[in-house]
Amino acid sequence: AGPKADGARGLRFTPVAPNTADTVTIPAGYAQNVVIRWGDPILRGAPAFDPDKQSAKAQAGQFGYNNDFLSLLPLKGERGRQVLVANHEYTDEVLMFKGYDPEKPTREQVEIAWAAHGLSVVVVEEDRGSGKLTAVTRHQLNRRLTVTSEFRLTGPAAGGPLLRTSADRTGTKVYGTLNNCAGGTTPWGTTLHGEENFNQYFANGSSATDRRYGIGTGASERKWERFDKRFDLKQEPNEAHRFGWVVELDPYDPDSTPRKRTALGRFKHEAAQPRLTADGRPVVYMGDDERFDYLYKFVSSKRMKKGNDRAAREHNLTLLDEGTLYVAKLTGDSPADEIDGTGKLPSDGEFDGSGVWIPLATGDVSHVPGMTAEEVYVFTRLAGDKVGATKMDRPEDVEPSPRTGRVYVALTNNTDRGKSGKAGPDEANPRNANKHGHILELAEKRDNPASDRFSWRLFLVAGDPKDAGTYFAGFPKDKVSPISCPDNVAFDPHGNLWISTDGNALGNHDGLFGVATQGERRGELKQFLTMPNGAETCGPVIQDRRVLVAVQHPGEIDGASVEKPASTWPDGPGRIVRPSVVSVWREDGGDIGV
Ligand code: FEO
Ligand code: CA
Ligand code: CA
Ligand code: CA
Repeated sequence: AGPKADGARGLRFTPVAPNTADTVTIPAGYAQNVVIRWGDPILRGAPAFDPDKQSAKAQAGQFGYNNDFLSLLPLKGERGRQVLVANHEYTDEVLMFKGYDPEKPTREQVEIAWAAHGLSVVVVEEDRGSGKLTAVTRHQLNRRLTVTSEFRLTGPAAGGPLLRTSADRTGTKVYGTLNNCAGGTTPWGTTLHGEENFNQYFANGSSATDRRYGIGTGASERKWERFDKRFDLKQEPNEAHRFGWVVELDPYDPDSTPRKRTALGRFKHEAAQPRLTADGRPVVYMGDDERFDYLYKFVSSKRMKKGNDRAAREHNLTLLDEGTLYVAKLTGDSPADEIDGTGKLPSDGEFDGSGVWIPLATGDVSHVPGMTAEEVYVFTRLAGDKVGATKMDRPEDVEPSPRTGRVYVALTNNTDRGKSGKAGPDEANPRNANKHGHILELAEKRDNPASDRFSWRLFLVAGDPKDAGTYFAGFPKDKVSPISCPDNVAFDPHGNLWISTDGNALGNHDGLFGVATQGERRGELKQFLTMPNGAETCGPVIQDRRVLVAVQHPGEIDGASVEKPASTWPDGPGRIVRPSVVSVWREDGGDIGV
């Protein structure tokens, strides 16, 4: 079979059938290669990966573990090359180290894990003629940022008492970034990285705010507090306040210190994707991935400067430090008794309504009664609680359409919706025990990203299309792929939304899907690829001639270990499982899905 099939422009491929194969399955007429794997050397002096001879020093020069968000940026003057930026969300020690004992990690294992977290910058090169993409090792832009690299806190909360520790009296200098999940790419050439489940790295939480952020009262899962006291909140109570931010990185300046932007608030940041107002101010959309947590946006008060000269670049690195942070409140337009928790459409035929962005703080001014601005930024979840923001079904990645300006929010699932003592269904989160999640489409009033009013409707209600409680923007359900647990989202050059999934609750592996958001094929969802055993689909980046995906945590299945692997991807039997980035292209060299 060839690569061509019926579909919206950009989605003319034969959909891949749902499956449980231990491989990356792609459409007929397409080819793939593994671009880079966990452990591949990217810095000068880093050794080739040897699973039996790992060291922290080696790992600090190698590609990190569990690649999640990916960004591909242009590289001027170097033909066929681009700059790949990747998040390394977390480590899976039982799949990294032989004989790992979770009760007794060694210092060496912990230090390797520190070096396997964080971010990678690596230049990649196209193999002209085949579409294959490979890493350029030792390029001057290549970079690793880990749990021991220096980051700077900036913006209104930086330097405040809540961010000071015994090691940093200035409250501005932090070592490390943690649990970088999804992210975003700015129009001024930097990348944004959400610090998501940072709570798991800290021991001995005690305050009410620690509790609201899910920090446990005992030892941490990885026991890092045994090797660095800053992870023990009994000894260093403010250290956890220095994580849970959006990080901004300038991948073109290998000497720059990445910034944690306090103006964007502190929560379990899944992702952050900006778009510009008509007068050039960035507006950043952000989700807090927790059951019953909130959707946010930040509106900068400063305009982006065009151009790539030093003055413009320096100015643009201040855009995310000044502005207003908002949280979303959504109201349905159908009677509440028509939202019965099953996913049945209300009588007006749509889950839809209006919304307001409630301001939380502007610079040093708090808009939340009883909280200072500093408290709003550091304990943003509590600010959202106070103003009555809408409790969502785990807001993951958020992506504004570059074509229409409409904003798409992946709400991955919420099996607690409707349980006793928990919030019941509402029109924006209409299913109880929501196993498969949904995608919300938000339109700012008059398409002004800085507006404090919006309308919204559900674009997809995920699941098996045979299930009556699913919805695909009204498209006939016998013509769409089943989908469960949407997570990272991205747009292709044609304006189609691409959705990667994490946690498929339909019995098949996770995958990557494309769906038209406009025209008569709006809602026609098609599966483009599937993941190996235990893996989540991340990235993705969709260019004219390439789809790039991160295969995160392959082989992560309960009871699996290095000795008893649950996957042989990507290198086959007898080789250690390695999270990796995959490039997919059309064998005949044509554009994806055209
Ligand atoms: Fe790291 Fe919400 O996914
Ligand atoms: Ca309605
Ligand atoms: Ca995610
Ligand atoms: Ca995205």
